[in-house]
Amino acid sequence: MTTSERILRDPDSVDTPQLIVSEEILQRNIAEMAAFAKSIKVQLRPHIKTHKSIEIARLQIAAGAVGITCAKVGEAEVMVNQAGIDDVLLAYPIVGAKKYERIVALMEKARIAVAVDSDTAIETISQAMVQHERKIDIYLEVNTGQNRSGVMWGDEAVHFAQEIDRHPNLRLSGIMTHEGHVASFDPDAIGREAIAAGEKMVQTAEMIREHGIELPTVSVGSTPAARMTPTVPGITEMRPGTYVLNDCSLFRYGDTWGVEDCAARFVVTVVSRAADDRCVIDAGSKTLALDGNVGHKGHGYIVGHPDVIISKLSEEHGVCELPAGEEGFQVGDTVEVIPNHICPTVNLMDEMAIVRDGVVVDHWKVAARGMVR
Ligand SMILES: Cc1ncc(COP(=O)(O)O)c(C=O)c1O
Repeated sequence: MTTSERILRDPDSVDTPQLIVSEEILQRNIAEMAAFAKSIKVQLRPHIKTHKSIEIARLQIAAGAVGITCAKVGEAEVMVNQAGIDDVLLAYPIVGAKKYERIVALMEKARIAVAVDSDTAIETISQAMVQHERKIDIYLEVNTGQNRSGVMWGDEAVHFAQEIDRHPNLRLSGIMTHEGHVASFDPDAIGREAIAAGEKMVQTAEMIREHGIELPTVSVGSTPAARMTPTVPGITEMRPGTYVLNDCSLFRYGDTWGVEDCAARFVVTVVSRAADDRCVIDAGSKTLALDGNVGHKGHGYIVGHPDVIISKLSEEHGVCELPAGEEGFQVGDTVEVIPNHICPTVNLMDEMAIVRDGVVVDHWKVAARGMVR
């Protein structure tokens, strides 16, 4: 596949804007990450927030993933009840008694592990497990530099690990971090930062084990660092999500990711050409989402047209700046657009059209779409 190549042969075969997914690129992305994880003897637990699809989750499991990662309980409900997945990590601080009623129901069908980073969450989970006479696996979330959720790596994490260990209905099975902050470093620094995050995790795990806690799992996860952090000896699990579809936020890492790795695109139509240097495509913020990126200027990458910039989005209008002399992009023309950040984009769609050999062969539901609760 060349960079100018689209994945859909006949764009008139779909009504636009249409999210399409190349089965070939998808399968390759799944297989390559699975092979990489196997080669470094690290378990793969992909984050499904990227695709929210039963079919893709099943393909990841079939390729060797030990289970999946979700953020929200609602995503896990879809993946357990509809996809039949029996091992789920909720890698998000799950707070509130109502959530635990739902988690206990899921525990009838699957192994559920939950991330925590607060005394309040530890107490709530413990009480729920006592009430339901259950014991649940806990991952302590550790901050290795992202400064989002997570207790500080090192002494603070050890303190929380001991706290969890004091509760008989909680089993501290792992520590986890999302080293997503490394993505903001320059491409030549990302490896160093990713390795540093991995080392903080391994060091923290060793400190926890010195207190007699078994701690089998040391889990990291982020696509830009997926080939780096998990290689630190002592890391046992990786949770990349974006890798399965990829997007143009990854283009800044030189030769590592390109158009040919992006399985998901939008087929869009030019609906206005009111000026020589401007056109409008039928994909605005309700299609492409508003996330920025530093890999390519604008709100997405138009396949085969790196010099055309999607400069402005309103809800249904994608305003494109055209270079002088551009004769294409006439009303009715179609192009493929790779979004800046594929995860929120997929969440805006009901379904994705699956393309094989240039032709739509199936439609897969975005089954966990909108499951934010
Ligand atoms: C907790 C957690 N783990 C793993 C991931 C996967 O990271 P990426 O989307 O870079 O693959 C994310 C992404 O948001 C996350 O929040």
